[in-house]
Amino acid sequence: MALKMRYLELNRKIRDVRMLAIQGIAEAGSGHPGASFSAAEIMGVLYFHKMKNRPTDPFWEERDYFINSKAHSAPGFYAVLATAGYIDTKEIKTLRKLGSRLQGHPVRYSERQKEHSFPGIEYSGGSEGIGLSVSIGIALAKKRDGQKNRVYTLIGDGESNEGQIWEAAMAASKFKLDNLVAILDRNKIQQDGFTEEIMPLDPVRDKWAAFNWNVVEVNGHKIEQIIDALSRIEKVEDKPSIIIANTTKGRGIKHMANNPQWHGKAPPKKHVPILLEELQSEILIAPSIIAGEPENYEEKVRRAERAGADFIHLDIMDGKFVPSTSFFADTIKHLRKISSIPFDAHLMIEKPVNHIQEYIEAGCDVVTVHVEACNESEFLEINKMLLLAGISPGIAINPGTQFPGWILEHLDNIDIMIIMSVNPGFAGQKFIPETLDKMAQIVKTLKSNNYKGFIEADGGIDATTLQQVFDAGARIMVAGNAVYGSPDINSNIIQLRHKANVAIETKLLELATINDMRSDWIKSRKNMVIPLAKELGIEEDLHAIK
Ligand code: DX5
Ligand code: ZN
Repeated sequence: MALKMRYLELNRKIRDVRMLAIQGIAEAGSGHPGASFSAAEIMGVLYFHKMKNRPTDPFWEERDYFINSKAHSAPGFYAVLATAGYIDTKEIKTLRKLGSRLQGHPVRYSERQKEHSFPGIEYSGGSEGIGLSVSIGIALAKKRDGQKNRVYTLIGDGESNEGQIWEAAMAASKFKLDNLVAILDRNKIQQDGFTEEIMPLDPVRDKWAAFNWNVVEVNGHKIEQIIDALSRIEKVEDKPSIIIANTTKGRGIKHMANNPQWHGKAPPKKHVPILLEELQSEILIAPSIIAGEPENYEEKVRRAERAGADFIHLDIMDGKFVPSTSFFADTIKHLRKISSIPFDAHLMIEKPVNHIQEYIEAGCDVVTVHVEACNESEFLEINKMLLLAGISPGIAINPGTQFPGWILEHLDNIDIMIIMSVNPGFAGQKFIPETLDKMAQIVKTLKSNNYKGFIEADGGIDATTLQQVFDAGARIMVAGNAVYGSPDINSNIIQLRHKANVAIETKLLELATINDMRSDWIKSRKNMVIPLAKELGIEEDLHAIK
């Protein structure tokens, strides 16, 4: 049986998809970044997690089908297929070239079309509105034959202007196609502008419900919400389902995001190194619920989720490994029921090897143990259990501990490394500045050993320290006191996001300056950097540009 894809691995692969897609588009000098990026999580979750598919055996009888009806998301689609292993990732560089198998709009593979396509592409797209009807044909045939294959169809909101979509909507419910799932990439932008100005689609939920479909709505960039919706749908009988995935066109590259101009435009090739850096610089925020008033944990999870947190950081403290006690696996099990947000458990306990099973069963997505609490063989035992359960394994290190060399032997199986910037035990402690050098050192060692996982900063992270740990290499930020230390959790998270944006923009601007395209970059990035002009120190540049 294939292993379940670990949350952080999935997250990383989807980042790789965006990186590949943008390289292909820039190389081609044309293509559609907007739709490739709005649908990256949707297509990534389908191929890397959900669908039954075998890249080495693309015609496998039991496979699930993916019909890319909004076919202009082709660069993202090819990047997903390449990352999954259907083709070599290098082939993305042939995108849209004459004689390439990666045409501007995908071509269904057949012997006759083998020069323009490759096995794994099930549908020729380009003319909008047709894919859902084709999907009905496949789903109906499979059902009639008593086969279990499922059909997943990606449709666009611009595409929903086509009458054929609504004819298909009627037919699918008439035939009770519960093996068909449509996913609407609801980015609210079509070729020339905003959908609601060109042809309003709302109330889109009600429309599909009126056609007798099972309707689920998610944030289409939250992997966990897509996964959760897909598994709930599997239980629905006698009805087709649609996931309305609220997305942002161009998501991932800020000056492209939600901007109709980037529907079908390639970035200049010289920008690519900066764009790749941006994609690798995403900052994820993980509020730690032990911080603040000792109020209801449930409420803290809900409020952080509503404010757009990326993870919930769960500090497990046993009063032995650290001086205080917090909560244990039973609390996590309870919290798991109220939300699908990823749980990032940080075990500050003695002998974690004896307890790991409880945290696996509690529903954690990431489980990190301390190097000070286990030796290499215990770590390996823990690691094996976590990998088998499809949970992202992590390792944490205290400020005073020397980085143990044995970790380097196991980097392929570590998804996250927590570098503590306080001595663990309590929220609300003061950041230890000396840990910055240590973090930078460790990150350097890890990079030279080809570590692909995340670095998480934990302890005293707030608006004043975030940029420093980002510069040292951290991309996941635990924030206890900075989120729960004062009552307005929403604005606390907004403030951290603001600092995260400043940190990222500063880094990208530095890179642009080194590469001799400072003003060119500032121009492309105008909407993003003007509101941050003072913090970025670009007021004079802006003056000169005008
Ligand atoms: C320290 C914990 C941290 C801490 C974070 O023992 O591992 O996660 O609670 O809280 P702040 O951000 O307040 O330091
Ligand atoms: Zn922690």
